[in-house]
Amino acid sequence: MSIANKNSQRIVLTGFMGSGKSVVADKIAKFLGLEMVEMDEIVLAKSGRKSINEIFDKDGEDKFRELEAKVAEELGGRENVVIATGGGVGINEKVLKKLVGTTVFLDTPFDEIEKRLEGDVSRPLFRDKNRAQKLFTERLPQYRANADYIVLTGGKDIDEVAREVAMNLIFMCGGGGCGTCGGCNS
Ligand code: S3P
Repeated sequence: MSIANKNSQRIVLTGFMGSGKSVVADKIAKFLGLEMVEMDEIVLAKSGRKSINEIFDKDGEDKFRELEAKVAEELGGRENVVIATGGGVGINEKVLKKLVGTTVFLDTPFDEIEKRLEGDVSRPLFRDKNRAQKLFTERLPQYRANADYIVLTGGKDIDEVAREVAMNLIFMCGGGGCGTCGGCNS
C-alpha cells in the first residue's frame, strides 16, 4: 500500500537500523533546502532518559513506541522537512499516516547493515545479530509495502543514495503535486 502524498515538502525516510536514514536525510535536506529532523532525537529528549538503550531497558519498548507515535503526531504539522525515522516507523502504518509525507524506503541488504553496525552498542534491537536478522526479514515486506519510493542502496555511497532519492522526488513524481520541486502546477 502506498501512503498518498497529502502534504507538500515533507519527505519521510524509512529503513532498517543502519540503512543510513540520518546521513541521507541530512544530505537531501541540504540539497533541497529543507530542514532535517531526526525522530529518535526528539523521542530521546521527551523521554528524560540518557539513551535509547535506557528507554528500552527502564521503560520498555512499548513506552518507546508510545513516545514515537506522539512525536510523529507533532511532526505532522511541520512544513518543509526531511524526517529521518527510527527503524520501527516504516512498518507502522498508523505512525506513518501521522507523519503525512512522501515515504522513501532505503532498501539496504542485511550484510551491509551488519558490517556498518559492527561494534555498535547504541541499538537495543541489534544486540543479538540473529534476532536482528529475523526482524529484518519480517519487516522487509512491510517497509516495501508502505513506501511511495524504494531506493536500493546496496553498494552505493551516501552521496549516490541521496542523489537517487532526490532525483526520484524531483523527476519521477508523475505530476502528483507533492510540491517538493515546485515543478508542477498542482
Ligand atoms: C528501532 C530503530 C532505532 C530506534 C530504536 C528502535 C527499530 O532507530 O528507533 O532503537 O525498531 O528498528 P535507527 O533505525 O535509527 O537505528
